[in-house]
Amino acid sequence: MDLIPPDGRTDEAALKERIAAELEAVRRRSFGLTTEVLDHEELTVQHSPLMSPLVWDLAHVGNYEELWLLRAAAGIEAMRPEIDDLYDAFEHPRTERVQLPLLPPDEARSYISTVRSKVFDTLDRLRFSPDKPLLDDGFVFGMVIQHEHQHDETMLATHQLRRGNAALAPRPAPPAADASNLPAEVLVEAGPFVMGTSVDPWAYDNERPAHNVDLPAYWIDTTPVSNRSYLAFVESAAYDDPRWWSPDGWDWRCRSGKRAPGFWQREGGGWLRRRFGSVEPVPMDEPVQHVCWYEADAYARWAGKRLPTEAEWEKAAGWDPATGTHRRYPWGNDPPTASHANLGERHHQPAPAAAYPDGASAYGVRQMLGDVWEWTSTDFRGYPGFTAFPYLEYSEVFFGADHKVLRGGSWATHPVACRTTFRNWDFPIRRQIFAGFRCARDAHVA
Ligand code: AVJ
Ligand code: FE
Repeated sequence: MDLIPPDGRTDEAALKERIAAELEAVRRRSFGLTTEVLDHEELTVQHSPLMSPLVWDLAHVGNYEELWLLRAAAGIEAMRPEIDDLYDAFEHPRTERVQLPLLPPDEARSYISTVRSKVFDTLDRLRFSPDKPLLDDGFVFGMVIQHEHQHDETMLATHQLRRGNAALAPRPAPPAADASNLPAEVLVEAGPFVMGTSVDPWAYDNERPAHNVDLPAYWIDTTPVSNRSYLAFVESAAYDDPRWWSPDGWDWRCRSGKRAPGFWQREGGGWLRRRFGSVEPVPMDEPVQHVCWYEADAYARWAGKRLPTEAEWEKAAGWDPATGTHRRYPWGNDPPTASHANLGERHHQPAPAAAYPDGASAYGVRQMLGDVWEWTSTDFRGYPGFTAFPYLEYSEVFFGADHKVLRGGSWATHPVACRTTFRNWDFPIRRQIFAGFRCARDAHVA
C-alpha cells in the first residue's frame, strides 16, 4: 500500500478513501467481464471443464466478502447462510459447479451488490485497530479486493477459452520494444538477500515472514522467452524428443498430444493464434504464453539452461544490492504506471520482450511484473516461520510437491494483487493461465 509510510503508521482516512476507490474499481471490472457483456446463457454455461461458469465466480466473490469482511471481521449476521455451500471452492470442484442450483445472474448481481453496500457502511464505521489482525491496516479490505481481482483474471481465462465472437472490447496494442544493445542475460552475484515480507500490510500469509536467503551467483534472462525463441524449440522437433523432458513432463507430452502452446494453430508455413475470439499471426516478439510448467522446463533444458528457482526470481526482481533493501516493485516503491509494466488489462496481451526499460529491476532485468506469469522450478511451500492467516485454505492446503510457484503477474493481473513478493501457484499441467517463463543458469566461478 503506497499510502502507508515506511514507519508503518497509517493515515486511516486516506487509506479508507483509497479502499473505497479500489472497491468501486474492482466491481466495475467484475461486471465488465460478466453481466455487462454476456447474456444469461453465456454466464451460466460451462465454457471449459477447467473453469467455473462465470456466474459462479461472480457470486463467489460476494460470498467470500460476506464471509470474511461482514461476518468474520465486522460480526454481521449471515444474509443467506444456505448459499455458502454452493460457493465454497473446496466443497465443489470447478467441473461440478454448473450442476449446482446457483443464483441466476440477476440474483447474483443483486446479492453481491447488497453485500457491497454493507461493506461500505462497515468501512465508514470500523476503526482499523492493530489489535484486530483482520482489520489492522485494513487487511480484510485488501484481502477481498485482491481476491476479486484474482477471480477477474480467472474469468479472463474463461473468456479466452470460450468459443464464438469476442465479447470484450479490444484494448490498445502494447508499446513497442527496443531490444538492441540489451544483453540476453544478467549476472546476479552470490550473496544473501531478504525474501518475502513482514511489513507489507496487505501481503498474503504465504509471502511472510521476511527471511534471509543466501544464493550462489547465477545468470537470469533479461526478458521472458519470446514466441520466436519458443518456435525454434517447436520446430526442432523437441516435442518428439524425450531427452528434453522430465519423466513426468514426457508422460504429460505423450498423454496430452500437445505440440505447441495453447491456442496456436499451424497455417501453411506459419502459425496463428486465437485470442479472445480473433485469429491472428503469432506475434514473434511477444513473450510466449499458455505453456505449462513441463513445457517451460523442457524448453530450458533444450536451451542449455534451467528455470530459475523462486528465490532467484525474487532476488533478481526485488533486491537492491546497492542499498541492501527489498523493493516492492522492480523499479522501486512507486506504484506502477504505464511506463513501468503491462498490468491490469491495460492491453489484452503481453508487450514485446524488452519493453518497459523504466520498469527494469536494480539488476537490469525487464518485465518481471506484468506481461506473463513466470513459472519457477520451485514447489509451493510455506517460508520458514509461516503461519496460516486468516484461514488454512488460502495457501496452506496447497503446499507440497503438487503445485509449482509462478511469479510476477500477467497483463491481466491488477497492480493491487502484484508485487515482487507475491506468490501464485498451479499444477504443472496447466496452460489456460496467462503464463510463460524465463530461463536461468548457474554462474560457474573459474
Ligand atoms: C492464487 C490464483 C492460485 O485462484 O486458486 C481465489 C486465488 N484463492 N480464491 C486460485 C484464489 C481463493 C488462487 N490462486
Ligand atoms: Fe476464491
